[in-house]
Amino acid sequence: MRITSLAQYHEAYAESVNHPERFWANIANEFDWIKPFTKVLDWSFDDYSVKWFEDGQMNITANALDRHLKTIPDQAAIVYEPNEPGDEAITLTYRQLHARVCKFSNVLKAQGVKKGDRVCIYMPMIPELAIAVLACARIGAIHSVVFGGFSAQSISDRINDSLCKIVITTDGAVRGNKNIPMKETVDDALLSCPCVETVIVKTRTKTPVAMLKGRDLWWEEEEAQASAECAPEPMNAEDPLFILYTSGSTGKPKGVVHTCGGYMVYTAYTFANVFQYNPGDVFFCTADIGWITGHSYLVYGPLLNGAISVLFEGIPTYPDAGRFWDIIKRHQVNIFYTAPTAIRSLMGFGDEVLEGKDLSSLRVLGSVGEPINEEAWQWYHEKIGQGNCPIVDTWWQTETGGLMISPIAGITPLKPAFATLPLPGVQPILVDENGKEIEGNGVNGNLCIKYPWPSIIRTTYGDHERCKTTYFSTYKGLYFTGDGCMRDEDGYYRITGRVDDVMNISGHRIGTAEVENAINMHTGVIESAVVGFPHDVKGQGIYAYVICEHPTINDDLTRKDILATVARVIGPIAKPDKIQFVTGLPKTRSGKIMRRILRKVAEGEFGSLGDTSTLLDPSVVDSIIAGAQ
Ligand code: PRX
Repeated sequence: MRITSLAQYHEAYAESVNHPERFWANIANEFDWIKPFTKVLDWSFDDYSVKWFEDGQMNITANALDRHLKTIPDQAAIVYEPNEPGDEAITLTYRQLHARVCKFSNVLKAQGVKKGDRVCIYMPMIPELAIAVLACARIGAIHSVVFGGFSAQSISDRINDSLCKIVITTDGAVRGNKNIPMKETVDDALLSCPCVETVIVKTRTKTPVAMLKGRDLWWEEEEAQASAECAPEPMNAEDPLFILYTSGSTGKPKGVVHTCGGYMVYTAYTFANVFQYNPGDVFFCTADIGWITGHSYLVYGPLLNGAISVLFEGIPTYPDAGRFWDIIKRHQVNIFYTAPTAIRSLMGFGDEVLEGKDLSSLRVLGSVGEPINEEAWQWYHEKIGQGNCPIVDTWWQTETGGLMISPIAGITPLKPAFATLPLPGVQPILVDENGKEIEGNGVNGNLCIKYPWPSIIRTTYGDHERCKTTYFSTYKGLYFTGDGCMRDEDGYYRITGRVDDVMNISGHRIGTAEVENAINMHTGVIESAVVGFPHDVKGQGIYAYVICEHPTINDDLTRKDILATVARVIGPIAKPDKIQFVTGLPKTRSGKIMRRILRKVAEGEFGSLGDTSTLLDPSVVDSIIAGAQ
């Protein structure tokens, strides 16, 4: 399955388009199947349904763990770098990880968790987070990891949407010099989650926490009693593996569902090829397991390849802005995968931070989550990669499960700030507003994909209609990504950003409607409108226009109160960077907010607002501009 030259890439690509079933069946057959598949693909984008390897049976952990026990049992699987640089790093070999996953699988089983049950995981970046994820997969329970920065309200919304019966958490978390409550937040969430029967709590900070008799259990005590043997549950390839909630342009976040077989094949294939992983390489993905990048390229993709994966608990700026570089030296990292926002933020600390840092172990660099601007790309290339590490700018989404458009390290000729070419199996197409294909090169359009790949989203949990309307109804017969894209003269792809009402804040996806709903919950707020605006470090920042009941609200305290409300409803990552109090919003006669105008004002482009004649009250715009200056 390994591509080793540009010619081979082109060959593999052609084969994947001309004979997609044969192409993916060959790759899938490199894995261990409990029952081999005979059908490869069944699909329709019109009445959305996709099934890969549907009559095959397997278990992803048998492939990610057991398979390696025969060959590399004593090689590191996960290297845990704790928040405190002075604390000992902990290595779990494949044998140790396997044993701990089996034990925790038995803990879950003892609590009555069965195949198909949903398990919510709300934990900081410690090895037990990966163990909990893998234990679910081993017994066929569907994990729903909720990023540790989300609020109690966000946790309970997610738990109730998929009716999780168990929650796994820690007493607290440490990030930089902050102590963060975890169990307490879960306790708040569970006040409105009658479906949860059990909470398992791993000790991390030794913070005092409430432990309810009959509901709450300590991880350590349960693990100590559990056997280290647990056979992997046979799963149909199309059984759900996990749910991961992500923001869309409307309403509440939706539960993206990925299934076992296709996700396994695709994440393993893309990891091996894009990063050109060689046995023994140390791979460091800085993403949190609470996001898709952590799922696919910290846990599953690397482990399926028998890789060594670094799991970092802390933040890039603690104890100082050289932390990533120290970790690279400490663990002799060969492949480093991070987000443009981190690169831009670290660039801002100046090159002095890099003095004396030994980055010579690095061979490949990766970027993910948002467009990387050329300046950041050059700095990353020169200062971190010392001019000789290829940068793979990987474009993909929660819904795609794995990397879609990306260079293959050292093989695809690079262009700064371009995701370059589609990976084998990915058939991108650019369309205009009406869904008409834009052919040729040197063009811009909306990015769609016209053929299924193995880890495409299968459904949105509990609401298949929503999946159909969100992704498959904008343009008939196509998966719509929500992204704008340019294809240059060489046929290279550059993602230009979202064309819908989804913002990308420091690589985190947040819907404008979600933030508006949170702001509107604040007392005295009548209405609000939220847009993204260019931000030097975060890529995009959040700009909120807010109408309040009382005219005296234009003060700092109200702003801070609104921020507190948003943090409480969604989480601190959704706090607006700017709040402007206004007396009206630019609406059309039919009552629709003209966000285009608000975006321009947020960007400071007051002179190019375009046509405002269709507004109900054009004078609103003047007063907004006056307030913005
Ligand atoms: O707009 C694109 C942007 O991130 C969105 C997907 O966000 P999420 O589902 O949270 O997944 C992030 C990690 C895969 C996309 O619709 N995006 C992601 N990677 C890139 C990107 N934009 C430009 N270049 C990228 N490499």
